[in-house]
Amino acid sequence: MLRVGLIGFGTVGSGVYERITNSKDKLKQLLGKEVEIAAILVKDRQKQRTADVDAFVTTSWEQFCNKANFDIIFEAIGGIEPALSYTAEWLERGVPVVTANKKLVAEKGQILEGLADQHSTYYGYEAAVAGGIPIINALKGTLATTAISRVSGILNGTTNYMLTEMIEHHRGFADVLLEAQELGYAESDPTDDLEGFDAWYKIRILSRLCFGSWPLANEFPRKGVSAIKDWHVEVGERIGFKIKLIAEAWHDGTQVRGSVKPAFLTQTEQLASVRGVTNGISIEGESINQLLFIGPGAGKEATANSMVEDFLFNERTKHSERGWGVGSEVQNEQLTHSFVF
Ligand code: NAP
Ligand code: HSE
Repeated sequence: MLRVGLIGFGTVGSGVYERITNSKDKLKQLLGKEVEIAAILVKDRQKQRTADVDAFVTTSWEQFCNKANFDIIFEAIGGIEPALSYTAEWLERGVPVVTANKKLVAEKGQILEGLADQHSTYYGYEAAVAGGIPIINALKGTLATTAISRVSGILNGTTNYMLTEMIEHHRGFADVLLEAQELGYAESDPTDDLEGFDAWYKIRILSRLCFGSWPLANEFPRKGVSAIKDWHVEVGERIGFKIKLIAEAWHDGTQVRGSVKPAFLTQTEQLASVRGVTNGISIEGESINQLLFIGPGAGKEATANSMVEDFLFNERTKHSERGWGVGSEVQNEQLTHSFVF
C-alpha cells in the first residue's frame, strides 16, 4: 500500500484526489501497489465536501500527521507558511513532497531541495510552473546538459486569459477577472497574478534550472498587467501588435538577468498566438536553436495531472544526481520582444 497525504483540497488538491482515484488501476500497475489517500488537510472544517472524502479530512496538522506513515505528500495550499514548515517536516522524515506552490519554490526552493538531498528524497515542483506543461522535468532530465542562453514565455494563465478576452472580445476587467477566479485559474489573492508576482516566481524557478543557480529576487524587475493602459490596447490594435505579459531570463556572459513585463509582440512572434489560459515557453540555445512548449497554464485537471506525473516520474527515476542548467551566453542581447513596457 502506498499512502498519500494531501495538503489542500481546493482547485488543485481536489484535482489530485480525482486524478489518483480515477487512475488507481494504472497506478497499481506502474507502482506495484495500491495507492490510498490516507488523509487530507484543509483549513475550514465547515466547508461542504463530498461524502467520499469527508472521513479523511482534518484541519489539525497533528491529526493529519498521525493518520499514517505517508509515502508521498502532495502540497496544494499555496503561500510560504505553513506550507514551508509542513514541507520541511516531511522531507526531514525522508518522505517526498510534490507541490504546485510556485511562491514557496521560488522563495525557499534552495532550502527545501537541500533538505530533500540531505534526507535522500525529492521535492517535486513540475506543477509550479506553467500548469500542464512538463517543462520542469524536461529541464532537469533530457535538457539537463544542454547549454541554454535564454528562457522566455507567457507564464501566467489568468492574465493571458484576461488579456485575450478583454482585447479580442472587448469585455470588462472585473468581469473577466471574476470568470478567471470561477474557472479556478486565479490565485486565492489575484494580486499575485495581476501584479506579475506569479510569473516572477515562475521565471526565477526556470532561471535556476536553465542557468544553474537561484537568482536573487531583486535581480529580476517586475511589472504586471496593471501597468497596461487603455491607450496601449488602442495603439496595439491599430498597428496589429499583441500585448502579452512576458517573463524572461538570459545569461549576458557574466550574470543572469531577467524580468517580467507587459510587451507588444509582432504577429510573427510565436508567443503572440498563445491565447486564453494557455502558456508558452521558449528555450533558446546554440545547439537547440529554439524549443517551444505550449499548453494549459492553469486549471484543475492540467495542474493535478502534472503533480501526479511528477510523483510517478520521480519515483521511477529516484534522481538526485541530475545536472542543473549549464547555461550559455546570449549571442544577441537584444530582447526577443518588440517593445517592453
Ligand atoms: P485553492 O482553491 O484556494 O485551495 C487551497 C486549499 O488549501 C483549500 O483546500 C484550503 O482549505 C487549503 N488551505 C489553505 N490554507 C491552509 C492552511 N493553512 N492549512 C490547511 N489547509 C489550507 O487554491 P488552488 O488554486 O488549489 O492553489 C493551490 C496551490 O496550487 C497554490 O500554490 C497555487 O499557486 C498553485 N497552483 C494553482 C493552479 C490553479 O490553476 N489553480 C495551477 C498551478 C499551481 P479550505 O478548503 O478549507 O479552504
Ligand atoms: N494563477 C496561476 C495562473 C495558476 O493563472 O497562471 C497557475 O500557476
